Amino acid sequence: MELPIPDGFDVPHWIQRWDRMQERYNERRAERFAAIVSTLKAICPSARLVLDLGCGTGSLAMEILTAMPEVHVVGLDLDPSMLLLARRRLKAFGPRFVAMQVDLRDSSWPARLAAPADAAVSATALHWLSASELETLYAMVAGALRAGGLFLNGDHVAAECSSVQQAWQGQEEAAGHEDRVDKADTWEGFWTAYGKALGVDLRAMQKELFGPWRGVEEGMSLSWNFATLCRAGFAWADCFWRWGANAVYGGQTARRQA
Ligand SMILES: C[S@@+](CC[C@H](N)C(=O)[O-])C[C@H]1O[C@@H](n2cnc3c(N)ncnc32)[C@H](O)[C@@H]1O
Repeated sequence: MELPIPDGFDVPHWIQRWDRMQERYNERRAERFAAIVSTLKAICPSARLVLDLGCGTGSLAMEILTAMPEVHVVGLDLDPSMLLLARRRLKAFGPRFVAMQVDLRDSSWPARLAAPADAAVSATALHWLSASELETLYAMVAGALRAGGLFLNGDHVAAECSSVQQAWQGQEEAAGHEDRVDKADTWEGFWTAYGKALGVDLRAMQKELFGPWRGVEEGMSLSWNFATLCRAGFAWADCFWRWGANAVYGGQTARRQA
């Protein structure tokens, strides 16, 4: 499904507005992207094919394509209004970026990949899934990776106990970062304005595509993620970066026995 682009539609403007809006809710977004890219380079320096799960407008894919000139990225997302911006943002990378409209909850997407991937990354997307959907996705990702393939997810990660979670929330509210990001849209404000510019009721379209929200806003804890990744087929799991309720964690599939 591809959305038509109206005459005069300003692609760079909407890409920039998306990034500003995301920064509003994720103060250390750039630092988290940098942690994903540096971990990918350190553990999989010769990666050629990387999947970006819930790629949105291609913000993380762009960092990877820029930092790793040999890499091709397949960006997977269900929302055609996001893929529209990702395709245009990453046009200069030619065939090194391919956008695929998939529902990550649907078990058929790994079969659509041309080859096993060296790595899969994701940013601020997987907390949109329920815990059981995430568990199923981890197994799909493990199956879509080659032996020794790496998975890295930068997302909301809950504290191991509710008092720590509440303390983090209090600290975040006190810091007031959301209100300090100059001229950034709110989440709802972005979709309303972007939909108007595209001439599409994006909220209605998303309701239809995604169904009711079943995600876990605060994310699952690191211990849950580690255990679930190992059950899903990863040989080990670890955390590579953390700032309160935000973390980059992941795992590697077993290397093939000689
Ligand atoms: C908050 S955005 C983050 C986008 C991008 N990774 C970034 O950091 O800018 C979450 C993305 O996950 C995508 N997403 C959520 N659930 C999905 C699903 N079940 N299948 C595919 N994409 C999904 C959404 O469409 C959206 O583009």
